[in-house]
Amino acid sequence: MTSKHPSESLTVLTDLVLPSETNPLNNLFGGELLARMDRAASIAAGRHSRRIAVTASVNHVAFNKAIPLGSVVIVEAKVSRAFKTSMEIYIDVWVEDRKSGIRTKANEAIYTFVAVDEMGKPVEVPHIIPETELEIQRYDAALRRKQLSLVLAGKMNPHDATELKALFV
Ligand SMILES: CC(C)(COP(=O)(O)OP(=O)(O)OC[C@H]1O[C@@H](n2cnc3c(N)ncnc32)[C@H](O)[C@@H]1OP(=O)(O)O)[C@@H](O)C(=O)NCCC(=O)NCCS
Repeated sequence: MTSKHPSESLTVLTDLVLPSETNPLNNLFGGELLARMDRAASIAAGRHSRRIAVTASVNHVAFNKAIPLGSVVIVEAKVSRAFKTSMEIYIDVWVEDRKSGIRTKANEAIYTFVAVDEMGKPVEVPHIIPETELEIQRYDAALRRKQLSLVLAGKMNPHDATELKALFV
């Protein structure tokens, strides 16, 4: 299977915040942002694997900044690392000022997707070769995030999480 670069999976969703998508403070409802991020990540995982890709885990979400009604929201998703059948997708969320066009980072999240066949059985995905400094940083840290996610899900014995344990010794 040929290798791919993270840029080949880049997916950018741009959309407004409408009244029906806000909380009582007139900011974007968290669940709406999660759905937008999931959609972008799903497309990115599909672009990398060219297979059906399902959400296996939401590993990290940081709602650092509220996003007000009427904002232009940009959700950027890219595969940061591919394992055997799973892919880590890193998502950056930006708010674009309508007058100046300046983008401010609002949130970020990390999802894990698994490529599956028509029966829902996991299938192998292409390797990934990071290119930029940020892509290399995210690639390098992805294995310990995978181990943490598996330990929390009860799918890995903490003693076997060698990469994760190395953080604490
Ligand atoms: C995701 C799913 C396909 C995994 O199937 P499974 O039988 O657990 O398969 P495996 O144990 O072989 O795991 C497959 C891969 O997923 C990874 N994985 C499974 N659970 C994970 C978790 N919680 N965090 C990170 N990675 C996980 C495994 O490490 C493995 O990765 P690798 O092959 O790259 O090493 C299966 O659980 C599923 O279909 N879940 C429902 C998905 C869905 O419907 N999502 C939408 C939510 S409504």
